[in-house]
Amino acid sequence: MKPRAEIVQFPVHGDSRGSLIALECGGDIPFEVRRVYYIYGTRSDMPRGFHAHKHLKQMLIAVSGSVTVSCEFGATKERFLLDSPSRGLLLEGLIWREMHDFSPDCVLMVFASEHYREEDYIRDYQVFKQENLSWI
Ligand code: TYD
Repeated sequence: MKPRAEIVQFPVHGDSRGSLIALECGGDIPFEVRRVYYIYGTRSDMPRGFHAHKHLKQMLIAVSGSVTVSCEFGATKERFLLDSPSRGLLLEGLIWREMHDFSPDCVLMVFASEHYREEDYIRDYQVFKQENLSWI
């Protein structure tokens, strides 16, 4: 699976009452969702992540507040600011990801294509760099 990190803009159903966003598998989320988790109450000086996944696909959405997600894959290093519930970050393939600068009100919701499996993680940056060579 070729590594891919891209921002997806979701359609917003807004009216005088406020806003509603509906996400469907196979639509805005281009995989079957098998797990949802969310990260909140993170101290702004406490980065998280620092790993890559071998097979997992994910959609990250800051449903409240903001967070910066740094991604490295192939020869690319890119930072994404997630600061709106109407935008998601789609991550597929071998990507080293770090989350920084969580705002106090940040709730980072993550939709994932697989159940939690520690064996899918690469937590050693040097191992990632070695695996990543095939995408450079
Ligand atoms: P961790 O991988 O350290 O989080 P992050 O990538 O944000 O730094 O996960 C923290 C703990 O939560 C760890 O004990 C594993 C557990 N966990 C689950 O049980 N299920 C999950 O889906 C996730 C993402 C983590």
